[in-house]
Amino acid sequence: MIDMDGLIARFGPAIADFSSTIMHGLPHILDGMRFKSVVEIGTMNGLSAAELAMHCDHVTTIDVIDRPVVDEVFAFLGLTGKIDRVVVKDEAEKAKIIDGLTFDMAFLDGQHGRAGLLWDFALTRRCGCLLFHDYPKVVNPGDPEVYGWRQYPPELLVGDGAGFLLDGIVPAGVIERHPPFAWWRVINA
Ligand SMILES: C[S@@+](CC[C@H](N)C(=O)[O-])C[C@H]1O[C@@H](n2cnc3c(N)ncnc32)[C@H](O)[C@@H]1O
Repeated sequence: MIDMDGLIARFGPAIADFSSTIMHGLPHILDGMRFKSVVEIGTMNGLSAAELAMHCDHVTTIDVIDRPVVDEVFAFLGLTGKIDRVVVKDEAEKAKIIDGLTFDMAFLDGQHGRAGLLWDFALTRRCGCLLFHDYPKVVNPGDPEVYGWRQYPPELLVGDGAGFLLDGIVPAGVIERHPPFAWWRVINA
C-alpha cells in the first residue's frame, strides 16, 4: 500500500482527495493480485496509479487533464519509470494510445456516465480483465445503501455508468461485485 501519511505530509491533505479510490478501498481490492501491464483511465493525482504499480510491472495512466503534481507524486513514491502518465487532448487520441498498448488489466475510473463508460469499456475490454470504480453509483439520495437505477428515468442516471453497464447490459464475462468496485473478467475456456 502506498505511503499516504508521507504523501499528505509532503503534498498536503488535498492530495488525498476523497474521490481517489485509495479512500474507497482500492488497496484491499488489489490485495494479492499481480498483473504484467495495467492501463488506468482517470489519473487524477496519481494515487491509484501508484497503488496499481505495486501490483504489476508497468502502468499506463491516462487523463484528459494535465496535473504536473502527479509526476512529483510518482517520484516521491519511487515509482518514476514504472508508470507512464499520458495526457490526451480528446477521445480519439485516447483510443489511439490504448490501441497501441498490450495490457492484462484495465482500471476504468475516468468517465462514469453511460456513454463515456461504454466507450472506455470498448477501448479496454480486449484485455479480458477490467476493474470498475463507482459500482454501484448511489442514485437514491434518500437511502444511500440502495442502488436504485431501475427506479429512475435516464436523465437522472448520468453517473451510474458501471452499475448500468454491469447490471443492465451484463456483458459476456464474469462479474464480481465489491461495491464501490466491480471486476469484469473473461474466463478463457
Ligand atoms: C475520480 S478521478 C480518478 C481518481 C483516481 N483514479 C484515483 O483513484 O486516485 C477521475 C479522473 O478522470 C479524469 N477524466 C475525466 N474524463 C476523462 C476521460 N474522458 N478520459 C480520461 N480521463 C478522464 C478526470 O480528469 C479525473 O482526473
